[in-house]
Amino acid sequence: MTHFLTLSNAVGLAHRYWSQLLKPGDTAIDATCGNGHDALFIAQRILSDTSGQLICCDMQPTALEASQRLCAEQLSKGQYDRIQWISGCHSEWPPELSRLQVRLVVYNLGYLPGGDKTITTRCNTTLDSIKSAMQFLAPGGMVSITCYPGHAEGRLEQEMLLKWVETLDKSQWCCVHHHWCNRTNAPSLLLLEKAN
Ligand SMILES: C[S@@+](CC[C@H](N)C(=O)[O-])C[C@H]1O[C@@H](n2cnc3c(N)ncnc32)[C@H](O)[C@@H]1O
Repeated sequence: MTHFLTLSNAVGLAHRYWSQLLKPGDTAIDATCGNGHDALFIAQRILSDTSGQLICCDMQPTALEASQRLCAEQLSKGQYDRIQWISGCHSEWPPELSRLQVRLVVYNLGYLPGGDKTITTRCNTTLDSIKSAMQFLAPGGMVSITCYPGHAEGRLEQEMLLKWVETLDKSQWCCVHHHWCNRTNAPSLLLLEKAN
């Protein structure tokens, strides 16, 4: 098995960007927390017992429970208590989130690995969610979207998102898409950085 240090896959590359962006005390949102691996990665970078805030959302209660279990095992009680859990669709963010200054919003699209493949993110709700989340972003903040073009809905989502980002105001948003040129249908990484 060959290993690549920097460009091995979209999630690994996303983590590098997040590490560079996040500081202790920041606020972040994981809009598709699934089994909690991304949530834990973010929590370890922003949460202490007294500062930082992480909001985790998933529409599947079993996924939310898996994330809660992982974070409870790996974080201190003080860190864990700084995570807000939202069970439901990410297209309906609670209104109080609009008061936040969020440094990073993460979408790891698609279905839960090892779960029901018919429960997947969908074009309309994904786009609605990203549009609202962009309003909570602090200047210099980022939306990170991992796309999965290897399944039908995932391919549609990626195509839709790539068309839509072309319409964003270039003085306000820097939009970058990483895709793996010599791998068929590999996950890709779309990043939207808000002007500072
Ligand atoms: C690829 S998995 C996320 C993996 C996760 N980031 C991790 O580190 O384990 C995608 C998740 O999105 C969730 N999901 C799908 N549609 C959603 C929606 N409309 N709102 C919130 N979560 C959704 C699924 O239930 C699934 O758990």
